[in-house]
Amino acid sequence: MHLCRLQLFFFFVLLSYVSTIDMRIVCYYTNWSVYRVTDIPILYPDKIKSLHCTHMHIAFAVINPVTLRIEPSEKHDTHYTDAFDTPLYLRMNSLKKRKSSLKILVAVGGWTAGSEAFNNILTNSSTRTLFIRHTKQFLRQWNFDGIDLDWEFPGDIERGAMNNSREQFNILIKEIHESFHNESNPFLLTAAVTADPTKIDQGYVVPDFCHYLDYVSVMTYDYYGTWDNVTGINAPLYGRNSSAEDDDDGQWKNVNTSIHYWLSKGCPANKLNLGLALYGRSFTLANGTDSVSIGTETSGRGLAGPFTKESGTLAYFEICQKLRVHNWTRVFDADAQAPYAFSSSVNSLDTQWVGYDDLQSVTVKVLHAKTLDLGGIMVWSIDQDDYSGLFCGQGEFPVIRRIHDILFSTDKNNKQNSFLTTQATKFRTKPRVSFVPIQRFTTKRQKITLTSMQSIPKSKIFNRGAKKNSPFYFLFIVWVYYLI
Ligand SMILES: *[C@@H]1O[C@H](CO)[C@@H](O)[C@H](O)[C@H]1NC(C)=O
Ligand SMILES: *[C@@H]1O[C@H](CO)[C@@H](O)[C@H](O)[C@H]1NC(C)=O
Ligand SMILES: *[C@@H]1O[C@H](CO)[C@@H](O)[C@H](O)[C@H]1NC(C)=O
Ligand SMILES: *[C@@H]1O[C@H](CO)[C@@H](O)[C@H](O)[C@H]1NC(C)=O
Ligand SMILES: *[C@@H]1O[C@H](CO)[C@@H](O)[C@H](O)[C@H]1NC(C)=O
Ligand SMILES: *[C@@H]1O[C@H](CO)[C@@H](O)[C@H](O)[C@H]1NC(C)=O
Ligand SMILES: *[C@@H]1O[C@H](CO)[C@@H](O)[C@H](O)[C@H]1NC(C)=O
Ligand SMILES: *[C@@H]1O[C@H](CO)[C@@H](O)[C@H](O)[C@H]1NC(C)=O
Ligand SMILES: *[C@@H]1O[C@H](CO)[C@@H](O)[C@H](O)[C@H]1NC(C)=O
Repeated sequence: MHLCRLQLFFFFVLLSYVSTIDMRIVCYYTNWSVYRVTDIPILYPDKIKSLHCTHMHIAFAVINPVTLRIEPSEKHDTHYTDAFDTPLYLRMNSLKKRKSSLKILVAVGGWTAGSEAFNNILTNSSTRTLFIRHTKQFLRQWNFDGIDLDWEFPGDIERGAMNNSREQFNILIKEIHESFHNESNPFLLTAAVTADPTKIDQGYVVPDFCHYLDYVSVMTYDYYGTWDNVTGINAPLYGRNSSAEDDDDGQWKNVNTSIHYWLSKGCPANKLNLGLALYGRSFTLANGTDSVSIGTETSGRGLAGPFTKESGTLAYFEICQKLRVHNWTRVFDADAQAPYAFSSSVNSLDTQWVGYDDLQSVTVKVLHAKTLDLGGIMVWSIDQDDYSGLFCGQGEFPVIRRIHDILFSTDKNNKQNSFLTTQATKFRTKPRVSFVPIQRFTTKRQKITLTSMQSIPKSKIFNRGAKKNSPFYFLFIVWVYYLI
């Protein structure tokens, strides 16, 4: 009897511990989204109504390769302008008024930035020290909580990285960590990293890297795109079942393999964020094909979306519009555990095809992250979710909301299954609506509409809150224990 009580006690202690662990939802906000010239509202940082992200990363600031100073990329980041009014950095910061636990980081690097500035920082001990000093100044000046390093990629000589950058980068990381932790309130140091095992080996001393960083966001997407000349899903969770068509290159190209690779190299699971793309990669199918399956020949990038205006990609909300207004057909690929969709005019010269993520595949991926006890989810990018709620018929920020609900759900089976089935039925029965975007953001604050999807415990909405509750949780457990 006594033993039984003791076991129960520990069970409850464990339960309370597990359920109060902070899990992260790291959301990137792209600076260029404010340049969309459209008749739908622009998502300014202070208009982000979803408070589900635990960390916001504003992408990107620039590292001046000569002075090694971080600089805002545009005037409106830090200055009042006619076009954008309040500086973006201040707008972003104002989110903290509504969610004090929110951390805001500045991201530097990115695909287009290349390697030059990072190489220069790594030159020697004085250049590293200079960069660290400038960085701390910049973070203090703009009230950021930390810096996110998005070097694409250390060790990647084809993309301009120095051939000893793996070791040098590791030294830099260590020095930044030590310098940050010399402060009473340390800045956060994080990174976005490659999903490609070869590049992981080339670029990172994984155990050290993960030790010195607060968290590491794996860019588990962009596995397939225009460059393949055949259709493929942006971010398959698993590889294809029929290994016949797999070349050596194809075997690693899925989320599961990449995450396992980071783990196998010695990165603690709780440091890793699984990356989710809120966009699809699109293709135009080659002339005269009557196939629309994965691996179909393409003639080039998909046509640009009407809002994001970049050929080869479509934002999640644009894909919703294709499905609901333009009658595209959606297929859920069982191997990849992710959907693709194609335009209704099959076998015409401009048949469009996109492989993407939606609520169903996002649910599966977040569950996968939970199964592996990862530290959280990273999202690229919040401005590609249906933030206005005008496109998908799923309310505002449907994907971010779904990520949050699954990540913080303690129900292991029933609810999660119902999440999956709800989606499937909902999609088929949804009446097709014609889309007329007229609604605009007004300055008055709008109430966030709650849907049944949001039936999560209140205490879980804010991370910090959950943490603060834990003494009460503990007392509650002791009370239950004595009751038994
Ligand atoms: C966004 O940041 C990039 C630097 O990565 C910069 O080149 C670009 O001009 C910025 N765009 C806007 C609209 O701020
Ligand atoms: C470090 O590199 C910079 C830039 O190349 C150079 O000016 C400086 O003298 C070097 N410092 C040391 C200590 O080698
Ligand atoms: C690295 O590059 C330098 C010059 O760029 C060269 O001298 C050196 O041999 C290279 N090292 C390796 C291991 O390739
Ligand atoms: C930490 O601070 C101490 C005292 O201010 C200083 O001597 C030391 O060099 C600092 N270490 C780092 C890594 O900045
Ligand atoms: C795709 O086509 C381009 C141009 O025809 C070619 O250079 C490239 O190697 C092809 N890519 C693959 C993965 O076959
Ligand atoms: C996920 O990856 C691991 C490690 O590579 C592998 O053992 C496992 O079978 C994979 N899971 C699936 C469903 O493919
Ligand atoms: C598609 O067909 C048109 C007309 O038949 C031809 O001009 C074009 O080159 C073809 N494109 C491709 C990618 O085969
Ligand atoms: C989509 O399908 C509906 C009914 O099936 C039809 O009325 C509508 O015209 C179609 N729209 C397009 C863009 O093909
Ligand atoms: C893939 O293979 C596994 C194991 O052989 C099987 O359980 C699963 O159902 C297959 N998936 C598909 C989509 O055929």
